[in-house]
Amino acid sequence: MSDAENFQFLAEVDAVKPGKLAWFEIDGHDILLCHTKEGFYAIENRCSHGLAALSGGRLRGCRIICPLHGGSFDVRDGSATGKPASRPIRSYPLRIADGRIEILLPAR
Ligand code: FES
Repeated sequence: MSDAENFQFLAEVDAVKPGKLAWFEIDGHDILLCHTKEGFYAIENRCSHGLAALSGGRLRGCRIICPLHGGSFDVRDGSATGKPASRPIRSYPLRIADGRIEILLPAR
């Protein structure tokens, strides 16, 4: 099966306002959709430091701030940008068509 066939519906584009986050669970994946000034990005909803849910954090530009210890990640690629977080988190490819955001999830 090609990647094109594996993209699946995540949300309507107008469901998440700019600067806001939305949490989804799809096929056992815990996903955080982030609407930044640069567009939509999807990351795993789990901090790599102490496993806190990032859905309780704040979005600042393209960075998500962990609610537990203040570590941060770049939502565009999941890289760690602020201590105590040092390891990246997973980011997921998205595509937008006809007002719908679709996500590419890895096979389980
Ligand atoms: S759990 Fe996120 S910085 Fe510690």
